[in-house]
Amino acid sequence: MDRVALGVADGLVERAVRRAAGRRGAEVVTVAAGPSGLGDQDSGPLVVVLDIEAPGVAADVAAWRDRWPETLVLGVASRPDRDRWLSAERAGFDRVVNRGAVGRALEELLTAGRGRRWFPVLADADAAGHLGLVARLGDSPVGPLAVYRVEGAMVCFVDRCPHAGRALAEGVLEGSVLTCPGHGSQFDLKSGARLRGPADEGIALWRLVLRQGRWCLPLGPTSSLAEFPAASAAGVPGDAGP
Ligand code: FES
Repeated sequence: MDRVALGVADGLVERAVRRAAGRRGAEVVTVAAGPSGLGDQDSGPLVVVLDIEAPGVAADVAAWRDRWPETLVLGVASRPDRDRWLSAERAGFDRVVNRGAVGRALEELLTAGRGRRWFPVLADADAAGHLGLVARLGDSPVGPLAVYRVEGAMVCFVDRCPHAGRALAEGVLEGSVLTCPGHGSQFDLKSGARLRGPADEGIALWRLVLRQGRWCLPLGPTSSLAEFPAASAAGVPGDAGP
């Protein structure tokens, strides 16, 4: 039986999740603290539902990704807050909805089933031995991608500064802080957050997952690379997904 892991302590959300899971024949298990709450089971839940406003939720999403890369991560927002919403997408949520829409979104993900798709970014052999900037790839559907290894994690982002478009991969990395060569904006490559302007927003950053010798970017079952926030920010038209 498919499972849904529920990490949101909210009666309305819980009722919606249980109703949607019931209609799709899935079991709901509640989890208080990340994937470790499910013990040492081999297969993960089909979907995990998390509160995007919970403290430490970005680390939580990374932990789910690391443990069960196939599990889809659904985020619930209790109030409209564009910055939080964008931060959640940057943290790796597959989908973010407000609490009134969680039932329908969950049913859609359960119907899509185990359909996560993967966008291959580069071979592990090409990344071996590299720290900091690993590669700059010019031919993705959303434009150039910069790939970095930072504090043990492999991340990638569209290599275009949100201020005036300079290639961030030409900038200087100190620790996890990347400084744009254009006008000195700084970004944290652990989260994508803007640390210093003139850029007035952070960068959409994705954590890559190693699969069969290739570092891949995880996509939802129905999404394409062109639907990612970085793509829309860059004005990429249409469905150019893999
Ligand atoms: S282009 Fe990056 S700070 Fe201006």
